[in-house]
Amino acid sequence: MFGSIRWKLLMTYLIVVSSACVFLGVHLSREFQATYTRQVEADLLDLARLVALNAFQGLSTNDPAEVRLHLQGADHGAGGPRIVITDASGTIVGVRGLPESAVGEHENESSIGKALRGQEVAGVGAAHQPEGTVYAAVPVRAGPGSRVLGAVHVSLPLSLFHAELRHIRWVIAGSVVAALIVAGALGLVLARGIAGPVQEMQRVASDLAAGRLGERVPIRSRDELGELARSLNHMAGDLERIDASRRAFVADAAHELRTPVANLAVAIEALKAVIDKSPDQAAGVVTDLEREVQRLTTLVEDLLDLSLVESGQVRLHASALSPAELILRSVHPFEKRAAQAGVTIATDVPPRLPRVAADADRMVQVLTGLLDNALKVTPPGGRITMRASEQRGRVLFSVADTGPGIAEAELVHIFDRFYRTDRARTREQGGAGLGLAIAKRLVEAQGGTITVESKEGQGARFVVTLPKAS
Ligand SMILES: Nc1ncnc2c1ncn2[C@@H]1O[C@H](COP(=O)(O)OP(=O)(O)OP(=O)(O)O)[C@@H](O)[C@H]1O
Ligand SMILES: [Mg+2]
Repeated sequence: MFGSIRWKLLMTYLIVVSSACVFLGVHLSREFQATYTRQVEADLLDLARLVALNAFQGLSTNDPAEVRLHLQGADHGAGGPRIVITDASGTIVGVRGLPESAVGEHENESSIGKALRGQEVAGVGAAHQPEGTVYAAVPVRAGPGSRVLGAVHVSLPLSLFHAELRHIRWVIAGSVVAALIVAGALGLVLARGIAGPVQEMQRVASDLAAGRLGERVPIRSRDELGELARSLNHMAGDLERIDASRRAFVADAAHELRTPVANLAVAIEALKAVIDKSPDQAAGVVTDLEREVQRLTTLVEDLLDLSLVESGQVRLHASALSPAELILRSVHPFEKRAAQAGVTIATDVPPRLPRVAADADRMVQVLTGLLDNALKVTPPGGRITMRASEQRGRVLFSVADTGPGIAEAELVHIFDRFYRTDRARTREQGGAGLGLAIAKRLVEAQGGTITVESKEGQGARFVVTLPKAS
């Protein structure tokens, strides 16, 4: 539990906040204490000046009774400041808040010494009070710059406002604790806000890893965590699609394999029945067998090919190829078949086309696939036209036929694996519906594109574009 993100976040947060609070609290209470004593010092200085003003008369006429008279007037009660008045020699002539017996003693408190030398001083010191006092001392004189007649020393024990300072410390400590509680609560909410979604995603990720691909994370925020959740869901969707497509592939492949294998079994049974009786019939069955085996071989090879290109494992050897040569190599194997079918194959390749960057064998495979399809659908007397041209920095190859064309609804599926527009008829002709799927992946793996345009009844035109060789 303490290793969880939530705890780590909360702890980090609390450590930062509490150290800030403690620092602030200590600083505030120090600052407050300093301000408070400065204020008391200033008050005491004012008081000392006032007392000095009143003591001036008595001191100038050397009349201690007069001095003391004024002191009685300045009585502040028991808790009031202590006052000591000395003459110019430092001998105490009057006190208040101290035993009268002190009168006549020599006062050697250093602040009084300073006052007698004409300075006004104030500060925190230990004079007369073991626990410390705040004091002020001022000289008594006739006027600014004139002779010093004596000194006035006023002090208050620090213990008097200890209670005050303690109270203030309590207030500050209380605020710090309150701030910590609020910060802790906020931290908890924040940590939950971050750790909650992370835990949710962690749970969904384990589900995905365990193969439960339908799991999704709710997207709760628009921040990085929300983005992460979105990416995770996206990935889960991709995984689900890949999984579905893999299953479909295996099912389709098994389905496609079943027919030729069943045909083989039938042919073998037929062969058994006739092999001893009629060698002529047997020869016919063997031909059938050969054809089925051939079909099976092609199918297996196509499946292997497709799985290679789909997994990106196909090795392509790109070189600079002449478009004219590619077309020549592709058309050549079909010349005899086209003539037998009564179909004309025309080529149209302008001179000086730029070379293309592609794998020669794979491109011939793509173009022969297109020609094979065209030849399968073009009726006798029809025409297949192969063209090459340059367009916007690319080289374009097209195979157009005068066959039945492809219905609009089927155009979008034409490059799907195992897709055939007319299942019965094309299977008869040996097609598994893999040619275009393989072609598309091969062309795209080489940086090219393959598209089809067709109107039903008006033939079809397949277009391959390839990048120019640099
Ligand atoms: N030129 C065309 N005119 C009309 N339909 C076409 C044309 N080319 C392809 N098709 C349709 O698209 C389907 C898919 O073609 P594809 O080449 O992928 O498979 P196939 O030729 O049936 O089998 P394979 O190429 O694997 O032997 C074909 O079965 C056919 O129905
Ligand atoms: Mg084909």
